[in-house]
Amino acid sequence: MKAIIQENYGDTNVLSLQDILTPTPKENEVLIRTNATSLHIGDWLIMKGKPFVLRMMMGLAKPKQRPGSDVAGVVEAVGSQVTTLKPGDEVFGWCKGGLAEYVCEDATHFIRKPKNVTFQQAASSITSAVTALHAVRDQAKIQPGQKVLVNGASGGVGPFAVQLAKIFGAEVAGVCSTRNTELVSSIGATRVFDYTKEDFTQSGQQYDFILDVAGSRTLSEYKRVLKPGGKVIPIGGPPKMSRVLGLHLRAMFSSYQSAPFVSYPNHEDLKLLGEWMEQEALTPVIDKVYPLHDTPNAFAYLGTGHARAKVVIVPSTP
Ligand SMILES: NC(=O)c1ccc[n+]([C@@H]2O[C@H](COP(=O)([O-])OP(=O)(O)OC[C@H]3O[C@@H](n4cnc5c(N)ncnc54)[C@H](OP(=O)(O)O)[C@@H]3O)[C@@H](O)[C@H]2O)c1
Repeated sequence: MKAIIQENYGDTNVLSLQDILTPTPKENEVLIRTNATSLHIGDWLIMKGKPFVLRMMMGLAKPKQRPGSDVAGVVEAVGSQVTTLKPGDEVFGWCKGGLAEYVCEDATHFIRKPKNVTFQQAASSITSAVTALHAVRDQAKIQPGQKVLVNGASGGVGPFAVQLAKIFGAEVAGVCSTRNTELVSSIGATRVFDYTKEDFTQSGQQYDFILDVAGSRTLSEYKRVLKPGGKVIPIGGPPKMSRVLGLHLRAMFSSYQSAPFVSYPNHEDLKLLGEWMEQEALTPVIDKVYPLHDTPNAFAYLGTGHARAKVVIVPSTP
């Protein structure tokens, strides 16, 4: 099968398309024929090997595993102990080495794809969507009627944060650049700030929560638009250890900001996201689709920090 191999840490030239053996499922695993793989910012950071501390987990000199994690496809074969899925099932979930024509992974990492959602949309609704869910439901614990602002509302995580905050009953405002304002209002933000033209921290509006995907402003600036008792939930921003440590310190000494968190997909949350997609309460948004052999260009686009929603990779045509 064809798969993307990462030989080293660095720029997109460390990624290459190669022929490798198609894996065989172990007793608890399923073999999936991949129809779509979506990228998230973690894939980019693993390619770069930054921040350096990441290499402690991923491999010091080069990554121990092939890149790509969020996939959707069709079950080809199941291991002897798998009873929940069968060949022909259309599924989505997370794995190691997802930038490949086939992936083999524990069956519990996959759930059935809602019929009304495409493979590309399903593949897009894994790591970024779960991160947004954890911010909205577990970190902010958003309640109906609360006012929420998503700073960085148009990238991988932002559109899920906007839509999920609405599902939990909030009135949502979003911040993005000019070319994305229409997208952000189309997914339910009732107020959209174009950060190239206006400063939301001077708007006079007040919010219960700022879901901070972009990490572009200081806590003192955010405080200007927080209601008394309001809080910033840090989701993203420049991946510098000094910044992350600063956020942890501020969380200890300020009631205006919670500590940064790291999200990983899990079966229960994917099921929940699948139900919302089935009910059409949640609509994944896709920006660009690249063939597998063009993966380096897909990574380069993601790395601009200005992809509009999700970037997807599909198997190359023969
Ligand atoms: N905690 C976790 O487990 C977890 C998981 C996934 C991601 N993350 C973090 O979340 C962050 C974003 O991820 P992503 O996939 O959404 O990234 P992304 O696709 O690159 O999106 C970045 C977003 O920020 C906006 N933006 C850029 N500059 C801005 C500014 N000055 N003011 C306001 N908005 C600005 C962009 O809008 P325009 O394109 O319109 O400029 C876009 O909406 C990353 O830092 C990542 O590390 C964390």
